[in-house]
Amino acid sequence: MVVTGASRGIGAATAAAVAAAGAHVVLAARDGQALDRVAGWIKDAGGQATPVPTDVSDEAAVARLFAVVAGFGRLSALVCAAGVLTPAPFAKTTSAMWGETLGVNLTGAFLCCRAAFSAMMHAGEGRIVNIASLSGVYATEKVPGLAAYNVSKYGVIGLTEAIAVEGKVHGISAVCLSPGAVDTEMLRRANPALRPGLTPDDVAELIVALLDSPLAAASGANIPLFSNA
Ligand SMILES: NC(=O)c1ccc[n+]([C@@H]2O[C@H](COP(=O)([O-])OP(=O)(O)OC[C@H]3O[C@@H](n4cnc5c(N)ncnc54)[C@H](OP(=O)(O)O)[C@@H]3O)[C@@H](O)[C@H]2O)c1
Repeated sequence: MVVTGASRGIGAATAAAVAAAGAHVVLAARDGQALDRVAGWIKDAGGQATPVPTDVSDEAAVARLFAVVAGFGRLSALVCAAGVLTPAPFAKTTSAMWGETLGVNLTGAFLCCRAAFSAMMHAGEGRIVNIASLSGVYATEKVPGLAAYNVSKYGVIGLTEAIAVEGKVHGISAVCLSPGAVDTEMLRRANPALRPGLTPDDVAELIVALLDSPLAAASGANIPLFSNA
């Protein structure tokens, strides 16, 4: 299976958890050294991991990632956890900030999901878990400075619904998780004062459970995750 954003935070915890559950996991993110470290921890724990440095917003890089994945046989699952958050007041949100945020969080998920979907169609089965955010959920309280981030996460939730609709006839299920505050570098940089109610391991544990459950009836769902405390 493939986990994006696997160099740290939720993606790294998910990669470790799915590997501990027996999957061979392909680790994708930009920082090759950090990916090597995560792969080392997984291997030391007896698991299988292959790091493939990838910028998910780069279509050619995503094509290279999934070419490597094809060499390992059937693709059972994809977890899209790659993401960026650059806070800025709306009036000061530059086109470059907007483009990068949408490019990684939404287009990156689209490119990875499309590549995985094509591989899974041929196999007649597959599972996709996308990480959105409570910031992308209608009627949750919004934090100022996150216009681009919020829009990208609304998009990921919509993308997941679209994949679920078209995936049904191919045996492909897709669900979205929308966590609140999780104790990661992203949160610590964005809001050092916020006390997170979730750990990366909490999210990873749920993903492992979802990947091991009958998902078809829930395909397209977005699951909000509030504090675990
Ligand atoms: N932490 C929270 O409170 C929270 C809440 C709700 C949702 N989320 C979502 O959860 C996901 C994981 O975030 P996190 O909290 O674990 O943050 P994090 O610790 O900052 O990790 C982000 C991951 O995304 C990767 N990434 C960033 N840009 C990338 C790119 N262009 N191509 C490939 N990988 C890229 C990073 O690796 P490289 O830098 O090595 O590329 C890193 O592995 C994100 O989608 C985030 O929006 C987080």
